[in-house]
Amino acid sequence: MNAFRKLEELSHYFLHYDIPENFSQIVRDELNLDIHARYGPLKLKNPVLVAPGQMTVSLKQIQMIKQAGFSGCVLKSVVAEDDKGNCSMIKLRKRPTRVETVYDDYDENGEFPIIHWDGGLDTRNLEEYLEFASQAIRLNSLDFPIIASLLGHLPSYGEDFIEDEWIYTTKRLYDAGYRIFEIDFCPFLKEHDELMNQKTILMWYKSIPGIMKRVFRDIFVFPKILNLDYGVEFQLKMVEASIEGSADGVVIANRVYKKEFGCAHGGKELKQRNLIQIKNAHQCFPDVEISGTGGIYRGTHIIEYLDAGAKNVQVLSFLMGKVKRPFEKKGNKFQQVFFKLMLDANDGYLACLLKQREKNENSGK
Ligand SMILES: Cc1cc2nc3c(=O)[nH]c(=O)nc-3n(C[C@H](O)[C@H](O)[C@H](O)COP(=O)(O)O)c2cc1C
Repeated sequence: MNAFRKLEELSHYFLHYDIPENFSQIVRDELNLDIHARYGPLKLKNPVLVAPGQMTVSLKQIQMIKQAGFSGCVLKSVVAEDDKGNCSMIKLRKRPTRVETVYDDYDENGEFPIIHWDGGLDTRNLEEYLEFASQAIRLNSLDFPIIASLLGHLPSYGEDFIEDEWIYTTKRLYDAGYRIFEIDFCPFLKEHDELMNQKTILMWYKSIPGIMKRVFRDIFVFPKILNLDYGVEFQLKMVEASIEGSADGVVIANRVYKKEFGCAHGGKELKQRNLIQIKNAHQCFPDVEISGTGGIYRGTHIIEYLDAGAKNVQVLSFLMGKVKRPFEKKGNKFQQVFFKLMLDANDGYLACLLKQREKNENSGK
């Protein structure tokens, strides 16, 4: 049977049934497609992770993410503390005063939701957060890695780091079982104008992975690149600084803080920006492991990120925002989004891979 026909059948079947643990094997057997991907040292069963944010703050969510078929997730970022509970970045434990789904002008049917939200990092203190993180890590497996994310003290230029915050929080997460860490340079830092000059920012990227890895040699650290208005060259400098600072890879890139909205923005504009950065970063630093994030709502978008040089993608707004057109798949939002991204017979990831293969075969590649 023709592969497209087989995909239609698979797609039809999984409209009604849960995604099983051996989904990638089924895809290999039925469609002869390898959908494995990587995050640093880890082999992923497929390239789609859930990004850190409001969809990874509770155990129930992590359970649903796992059950829906995602290859892993990154927990909502915690604000670091030292062993006495001091927390220099406490301002970032900011509760939102508004959460809103907005749509770009071109998106007349409300299919590509963007979140406007003025909250910050996780609002719990470290002890409260660890209660959640310690339960969540029990769902961690080779087949479903769970990644930690944090932000600690950020000095201005010339000031020393309060290293204890970074080290103590990493230690507590390490003791709970986490080995892979993202660093969230939250877009709301842009409100702190005194910190946001280029020299200072590069110093953070150069120093922090090393501070964490000096104490814990078997961890992997992935800083998330800020999306600033200094041009692509500066975006690449942040990547370069991360590598010099012994990061194991980078996440490209966080949402763009916009003064006019008083919050960060995403969607298509973010995706276009991030694809340019990833292409450039991949070209300049071919060995750097890149995780791509921003504006992913279709399998075609996943392919764009992977073709640009990302090893995997992270999705949030599609899961969190209100999608006006009803999903074909019944079930919870995690299941609906995973199905749409992966199995949509038109523009899901599998359909895109089949089209790519057909094109290559026809052109004799
Ligand atoms: C409401 C909200 C909260 C977020 N919180 C975090 C966070 O705690 N840590 C982090 O690294 N990124 C955070 N992000 C960024 C997302 O992880 C993601 O990288 C970004 O939103 C781009 O993906 P998207 O377009 O699919 O939303 C947040 C984004 C949103 C919309």
